[in-house]
This record gives sequence, structure tokens and C-alpha cells, in this order.
Amino acid sequence: MSRILVTGANGQVGQELVNALMIQGYEVIAAGHADLDITSEAAVEGCVGETGIDAVINSAAYTAVDRAENDRTAAHLINAQGPRYLAAACQKAQIPLIHISTDYVLDTVRGEPHLETERPRASCVYGSTKLEGENFIKESGCNYLIFRISWVFGRFGRNFVKTMLRLGTEREEIAVVSDELGAPTPARAFAEALALIMGQVLQPNFKDYGIYHYCGTPFCSWSQFARDIFECADSLNLLPHAVNVRDISAREYGATAARPADSRLNTDKFSRVFGIAMPDWHDYLQETLNASA
Ligand SMILES: NC(=O)c1ccc[n+]([C@@H]2O[C@H](COP(=O)([O-])OP(=O)(O)OC[C@H]3O[C@@H](n4cnc5c(N)ncnc54)[C@H](OP(=O)(O)O)[C@@H]3O)[C@@H](O)[C@H]2O)c1
Repeated sequence: MSRILVTGANGQVGQELVNALMIQGYEVIAAGHADLDITSEAAVEGCVGETGIDAVINSAAYTAVDRAENDRTAAHLINAQGPRYLAAACQKAQIPLIHISTDYVLDTVRGEPHLETERPRASCVYGSTKLEGENFIKESGCNYLIFRISWVFGRFGRNFVKTMLRLGTEREEIAVVSDELGAPTPARAFAEALALIMGQVLQPNFKDYGIYHYCGTPFCSWSQFARDIFECADSLNLLPHAVNVRDISAREYGATAARPADSRLNTDKFSRVFGIAMPDWHDYLQETLNASA
């Protein structure tokens, strides 16, 4: 049975990954922040070098996008140096590193969904530190898979779906950004897909390392996402009143960090190489809403 180390194991994606890998029969070393701080080079070397593992999945990250604008040092340590240490340790141990990245490394407007071959560009601190992390991994010489995902939501941790439900119980109208496009990614679907493909990745003849995009379907704006969340919440009787979603621009909303106007990811490569279709994110709203109700 293969042994897989999951870092950031108590995060939104990390918890789903641990569950999904165990269901597939893997022996999982679930390392939360307190078990393994990826910004400690010595701790990373020790953990990766001494535990007899077959692969590392890094789901640890500094994910507070707005806070990162005034906390660059911490974001850099966790999103760039941490992956650098993990990649070096994986290279030394000759095992693959599976790393999770973000659509925020792609802040350009192409008029069509982003490809893995595009030159990345980030305009916020979170995105640029995640991009530094990607680059360190690429330069390390290790066998890596980088999965860029977008707008993640799920049962565990904080996310947009849970925030909307909380606000929707307090207010009858909510202003939501309508001029940023992307696709919500259900954390459970992504984790299950990753757990499935580990069977291929751990084969000695696996060669398809590189960068992949993965997200839910269909594409939407944040305000459309919010409307669909409220429709589902209403059908589950989770709202005390109807909620009107009012479209506003990102400029009007005025978030601290700049976010990409077009986060749509082209996921054809993932489906072609691994034979897995993208999930409809609507199918995962109910379990997320029920987990937060
Ligand atoms: N959330 C999204 O919408 C989104 C979108 C696109 C991509 N992603 C990417 O998806 C991945 C997973 O994100 P998520 O949503 O699961 O984030 P999350 O819920 O914030 O989980 C991140 C985990 O990393 C841990 N962590 C922070 N610093 C660490 C360190 N120095 N060493 C070890 N662990 C540390 C955190 O623990 P503590 O809380 O105890 O510090 C937390 O459990 C990340 O790579 C993120 O960039 C997320």
C-alpha cells in the first residue's frame, strides 16, 4: 500500500484529500500545521526523508488574499519557501510532489479560458507568492504536478458559500461582484479526482508531470454564484426570507487585493490525460450549505 504525506491536512482541501485518499486505500500521513510547518526546512527534510513515503501532496498555504497585501513576508514564507523546501526534499527522496496552486497566478484577460501554457502574471501578493512557489518547484528538478484550482468551496473551513449563507440570514439584499468571471471548485470533487489519479501517478512509467487546471463547471460570475447559492439554500429552507443579489463592480466593492477579472480555466488537459470530467459545482452546494447551517 502506498504512503502519501498530506501537508495542510486540516485545511478546506486538506481534510477532503485525507478522506478521499483513505477511501482509495492509501496509507495517509495527515500533517496539519502543528505537525509539520512547511516553512521549516529542517522539519520538511526530516518528515519527507524519514517517513518512507511514496508522494507528497501540499495543500498548506497562506490563503487570506486581502490580509496578504500587508503580510507579504508570511505569505512568501508559506506560499513560496515552503513549496521550495518540499520540492527539494522530494527531489532528494526521488518521490513526486503534488502541489496545489491557484487561478490568481493568471491575472490577464484573454477573452477565453486560461491555458497551462500561458505566461502567468499575478497582481496581488497572494497570487505572486503562489507563483513564486510554482517557479521554485519547477526549478527544483523534482517530479511535480501542479494543480491550479479556483474559487474553492466545501464542507470544511471558510468559503464563499458559507459566507453567503451567513449574510443571507442577516440581510435581505447583498451586493456581489458581477464583473469577475471564473468557476467554483468543489473541494470534495477535486480531492476525489486527485485520489483517483494517484493510481496513475505512482506507476513507475508515469510521465505526464507538469501543470494542470481543474475547476467546476459551468463558468459564472460571483453574483451568479451567489444567486445559485441562495436558490439552493431556499430549497433547503435555510433562509428566513428571500435574498436579493445586487450586481456591483469589483471597483465598487473595493477589496484590498486586486483579483483577476477573468479566472476561467481551460481544463481540457486534465480531462484528456486523466480521463476525468469536471464536476458541476451545483451538485456540491447542498452538502456545503448543510455543513454550515
Ligand atoms: N480557498 C480557495 O478559494 C482557493 C482557490 C484557489 C486555490 N486554492 C489553493 O488550494 C490550496 C488549499 O487551500 P484551502 O482552501 O484548503 O486553504 P485553507 O483552508 O486555508 O487551508 C490551508 C491550510 O494550510 C495550513 N498552513 C498554513 N501555514 C502553514 C505552514 N507554515 N505549514 C503547514 N501548514 C500551514 C493552514 O493551517 P492553519 O490554519 O492552522 O494556519 C490550513 O490548515 C492552497 O494551495 C490554496 O492556495 C484555494
